Amino acid sequence: MRIDIISVVPNLLESPFQHSILKRAFEKDLLEVHVVDLRAFGLGRNHQVDDYQYGGGAGMVMMIEPLYNALEHLRKERSYDEVIYMTPDGERFNQQIANKLSLIENLIIICGHYKGIDDRIRQHCVTMEISIGDYVLSGGELAAAVLVDAVGRLIPGVLNDETSALLDSFQDGLLAPPVYTRPADFQGWKVPDILLSGHEAKINQWRDKEALKRTRKRRPDLLDE
Ligand code: ADE
Repeated sequence: MRIDIISVVPNLLESPFQHSILKRAFEKDLLEVHVVDLRAFGLGRNHQVDDYQYGGGAGMVMMIEPLYNALEHLRKERSYDEVIYMTPDGERFNQQIANKLSLIENLIIICGHYKGIDDRIRQHCVTMEISIGDYVLSGGELAAAVLVDAVGRLIPGVLNDETSALLDSFQDGLLAPPVYTRPADFQGWKVPDILLSGHEAKINQWRDKEALKRTRKRRPDLLDE
């Protein structure tokens, strides 16, 4: 999978993908992330990328030409399955969307700044608009990093058995059960006996029960769905 991220602050995206599971995805050639500096497509001597909004009002808007030219530059090289715009008024991101995106080949992500991007880009070029939650970030970069992380680890072949996504929270519509590691007794705080029993079927039963209990208590809305 190839992901191109269009951003006015590419430095913000330097580190998030260079560690842990995503690093492994790069090393296995299963994922490539390229950050495109929108300023390289900016207008005039100052490489302008934003301007005042028509109709007046505070806040700048990201201009259509630099964004369009950046998209065209990418689309000349290959075709893309989706062009995603990260925005707080987009569809709320969840595990289901991450699963779906993990199966596609080429993806563009546009990170907004200021008041957002000229709406004509949204109308004519963007195919999906995604929000990572009901709060406003100062730009789309951190939201894009969240999306790439959640999607990247699901690309077939990235996780091994040990880190399998099948038991993640949300993957089966439930939160994950509690987990423990050594020591079995820390200052009297004990690990549930069943997990030390070696009885796989009973352990799985216990985990299912705990997952359900935890979901009922913390996220009953997931059970309604
Ligand atoms: N850009 C600013 N806030 C955002 C959010 N909550 N989700 C996605 N992109 C954003």
